[in-house]
Amino acid sequence: MAESASDSVVSITGGRSFNGTLSVPGDKSISHRALLISCLASGTSIIKGLSQGKDVQATKALIAHLGARVDERGGRIFVEGGRDRLHSPGTVLDVGNSGTLIRLGAGLVAGLGGSYTFSGDESVNRRPMKRVFTPLVQMGAVIEASNHGDNAPFTLISHGLNGITYEMPVASAQVKSAILLAGLGASGTTTVIERIPTRRHSEEMLLDAGAEIDVTRYTDRSEIYIRRSSLQPLEYDIPGDPSQAAYWLVAALITPHSQITVKNIYLGDLRTDFIPVLTRMGAEIDISYRSRNSGDVTARSSQLNSTEIMPDEIPGLIDEIPILSVAAACANGTTVITGASELRVKESDRISVMVQALRSFNAKVEEFSDGMAISGGEKLHAGKVLAHLDHRIAMACSILGAAVADETEISGFESVESSYPTFLADLWNLTTA
Ligand code: S3P
Repeated sequence: MAESASDSVVSITGGRSFNGTLSVPGDKSISHRALLISCLASGTSIIKGLSQGKDVQATKALIAHLGARVDERGGRIFVEGGRDRLHSPGTVLDVGNSGTLIRLGAGLVAGLGGSYTFSGDESVNRRPMKRVFTPLVQMGAVIEASNHGDNAPFTLISHGLNGITYEMPVASAQVKSAILLAGLGASGTTTVIERIPTRRHSEEMLLDAGAEIDVTRYTDRSEIYIRRSSLQPLEYDIPGDPSQAAYWLVAALITPHSQITVKNIYLGDLRTDFIPVLTRMGAEIDISYRSRNSGDVTARSSQLNSTEIMPDEIPGLIDEIPILSVAAACANGTTVITGASELRVKESDRISVMVQALRSFNAKVEEFSDGMAISGGEKLHAGKVLAHLDHRIAMACSILGAAVADETEISGFESVESSYPTFLADLWNLTTA
């Protein structure tokens, strides 16, 4: 076998081709929201296709701590929720590695009222939280947090919130969603003004669940209005995660004699912008829609050329920059990525960690404060990568490791458990040496 795991170090033998058809885990953003919305909805929601990653399992545990009843039968999750059964749990709410959970969770409990303490792993406890605390405090929450009020662990106390109008200072779906979930429990109208569009799952899923929410789109901004609402239970059927599909699609593009089809992935707005980026690099990619927002995507071996990724593209590509930088290292010419400073506050500092990782494969990379320039066409060799508690670094570098010659070593590989526990098994099933 080409891959061997010892503790958290994985060795990947390169020189591989990727062929086959697969399904990837359920979309992580939709999975978190399906659980959180179900916990607020009075009655029983049913969720199919929930991500099995540890991040979403932490959300499942958190809503159970809050008082929702969560059962699993026949591969489906049943959530019995409703505001009247939810309460402060009296224990620390542990979000593990999940930035989405700590931010959306803070908004949700602020709207419930009571006292709640949140903590996570070393990576989450380093991530900026003031961006969420500022609007929640304006709404009336009291928050005591570590590191001058910017980090978890923190305790949030709320005795009723008031609606506010808040213009987003940073493009972040997590912050927007936290405010909307808080707004669901606030008096009056909460308005979020968003000038740079970010993923819209919260708005769409809250509307489906019966929230009083309206969105007005202007040429230069969206305004989202939400009012205190009761939610109804729903049945969710979660499509595959396009961010996870991106690893296999790039794997097929950068290796010879390869063709991969990823089945039934989410194809809605602001989640699949990596596909047109790859296409303009010369990628052969076909999409076959199953519905307006989901379908199968096929990629085959292609000669890639460099591209320029502009700041206004970043929010639609935010989770795919690590794997796009792998594609760039295998492309002709120099790919320049700018306007991506948000990457520095993800599970790791994805700019500096990815620059170091790519250099270990002998790629020529220049680091900027808000991005990087990657010159492809260098003779790449096996790399030595530290994943820094970051699943996307571990997965992106595994794909590059499988493409180049010899054995690539990835330390901290267990981080993939947070979103894609079967990643290595899928890699093995799809590759031939
Ligand atoms: C997410 C939003 C993005 C993304 C993260 C998931 C979400 O984060 O990077 O993986 O589900 O709302 P930001 O909102 O911080 O950009």
